[in-house]
Amino acid sequence: MQEIFQIAIDGPGGAGKSTIAKEVAARLGIDYIDTGAMYRAVACKLIRMDALDAEESYIEKILSDTKVDFSSGKTILDGIDVSEDIRKAEISAAASKCSALRVVREKLVSLQQAMGQRKSVVMDGRDIGTNVFTNAKYKFYLTADPKVRAKRRYDELTAKGQQVEFEQVLKDIISRDEHDMNRKLNPLKKAADAIEIDSSNMSIEAVVEFICKEI
Ligand code: DC
Repeated sequence: MQEIFQIAIDGPGGAGKSTIAKEVAARLGIDYIDTGAMYRAVACKLIRMDALDAEESYIEKILSDTKVDFSSGKTILDGIDVSEDIRKAEISAAASKCSALRVVREKLVSLQQAMGQRKSVVMDGRDIGTNVFTNAKYKFYLTADPKVRAKRRYDELTAKGQQVEFEQVLKDIISRDEHDMNRKLNPLKKAADAIEIDSSNMSIEAVVEFICKEI
């Protein structure tokens, strides 16, 4: 039987985690799971139901009737592909907000654990190495200067035709870092046994090479 193992890639928004994790997974021939996309899908649903500010008990009820899946690179919410919708700028703040809720984290963390126990995966997020898979075989903490991250996010959004201001994107990145790093439940932090990579002055290929060499 083949060994099942997990590769955790954590770090703040815009550090290049998903592009890099996807490429590492492709090179290793294993699955890639974007856990941020799952929080974004939940945010999408809560916005649609006008429940982002609702009581946790009501949100729990909505979640019990919600299916979130990440397969073949697509984010599926209640059977519908929402991969495009979840990338909108307003969803980022909503995802960060709802990811602080216990009911949301409990549901998504257990789904992520089930996914990574069935097959080998590269999983990216905020708490993979510190919470979802504390025994992951390889752990990386990918970071970059906030201005560099904002520029990458700005380029990504404008390339998709979204109208955004650079200063606003930078503000959003800083406020999301603040929120993700200081929430009570599973905040973003480097696992003690994770390898830290600052990608501010590195190309995507250089980071992928570095990670693959480590593995
Ligand atoms: O990686 P991303 O920007 O798509 O993530 C969106 C939000 O989801 C992020 O602000 C924090 C939250 N998140 C989380 O709390 N835990 C994870 N494992 C992944 C994302």
